[in-house]
Amino acid sequence: MRIGILGAGNMADALGTQWVREGHEVLVSGRSPERAAALAARLGSPARSGTWREAAEFGEAVLLAVRAEGVAEVLREAGAEAGSLRGRTLIDCTNPIVQERLTLFTEGGPSMAERVAETSGARVVKAFNACHEDVWRMTPPVFDGRPLAVPLCGDDPGALATVRSLVTDLGCTPVDGGALERAGLLEATAAFLIGLWFGGADAQAIAPPLAWATGGS
Ligand SMILES: NC(=O)c1ccc[n+]([C@@H]2O[C@H](COP(=O)([O-])OP(=O)(O)OC[C@H]3O[C@@H](n4cnc5c(N)ncnc54)[C@H](OP(=O)(O)O)[C@@H]3O)[C@@H](O)[C@H]2O)c1
Repeated sequence: MRIGILGAGNMADALGTQWVREGHEVLVSGRSPERAAALAARLGSPARSGTWREAAEFGEAVLLAVRAEGVAEVLREAGAEAGSLRGRTLIDCTNPIVQERLTLFTEGGPSMAERVAETSGARVVKAFNACHEDVWRMTPPVFDGRPLAVPLCGDDPGALATVRSLVTDLGCTPVDGGALERAGLLEATAAFLIGLWFGGADAQAIAPPLAWATGGS
């Protein structure tokens, strides 16, 4: 699959590495062409770098992996207003988190994923936002013998199928998280988990087994 990546930082590196290893063709872009080129070189052939717009228009899927405060500007520079992303599968892994308070700066309005969908006209799927980059570098991310489950929120069946296959490529298990209108819950979940982890809590322990989800009897 051809995958354009908007961003040349940690998440672009972690997920790009996995997808190149799985034989996908990746084009990375960033604020700094040098940083994007260096990442492409690290990812190895056939990865290459280009402009934001080239990454937006490159392939069957686009990963949005920039700091949330830069999303609007990056979408503009990628030509979203001119339709460069319209109808494309766009994976949004961003977290619109206010670092000091671990709340969301989107609070009270649409989620970041919905804003991206509104601006770009892309078929947005929220995914990969709830774990640290080092987890996405694991081959595969398996804990206590269980592959990591990756929740996906999106509206378009075709886009969801594409992202499910990219999740499976990592050795993870895709989980249906519902429609894009629920992406804000996933963004809030990430912020909440990060708060627990920063506080030294075992966030993995907060949910009971499935059998207890609706009561124990
Ligand atoms: N890292 C993680 O563990 C992790 C996990 C889950 C989700 N996320 C989310 O994934 C997204 C990417 O995270 P990351 O760790 O890969 O970020 P990062 O390494 O700090 O930066 C990613 C990219 O965003 C660009 N960028 C930063 N600020 C920008 C701005 N104001 N305007 C335009 N571009 C800007 C960077 O450009 P420069 O290289 O020029 O700085 C870089 O290309 C974030 O929204 C983050 O919340 C991260």
